[in-house]
Amino acid sequence: MTETEKTNTIDRKDFMKQVGLGFGAIMLMNCLQSCGETEIPDPNPTGNGDVLDFSIDITASGNTALQTKGGFLVVASKKVIIARTLNDTWIAVSSACTHEGTTVNYRSASNDFLCPNHGSTFSSVGAATKSPATSALKKYNVTFTANSNTVRVFG
Ligand code: FES
Repeated sequence: MTETEKTNTIDRKDFMKQVGLGFGAIMLMNCLQSCGETEIPDPNPTGNGDVLDFSIDITASGNTALQTKGGFLVVASKKVIIARTLNDTWIAVSSACTHEGTTVNYRSASNDFLCPNHGSTFSSVGAATKSPATSALKKYNVTFTANSNTVRVFG
């Protein structure tokens, strides 16, 4: 074996090391690419899935309670209660009590929600504050557009 032949040959152990390193590097790159993704693709990209998003006109018949600070409205079809606080901010949570599903009411003086069935209360952001209910109402985002008298609930 000439000197050139010696330098161009590698033994089986070195070959396996090099292949192993290359394979490991490829696997690491694949993992970094897929593990780095934080967003799960939307299976229904043209729709909004389970995300709630609706708007109401507070001048429309049946919605006028929201024209007054401290007023509230249950949108039964969406299972959402919207309240306009005494400070003129807007809040919305799911309207079904997490105990047995009774529709909750808004109490403006204490800025919270009361279930009339067994007396559970929930904070303005939906957290259960008095049993028997122990889990929170779902909180939604609310925006109010004054020039169109429109409340949008989404989240
Ligand atoms: S249903 Fe609301 S406290 Fe029981």
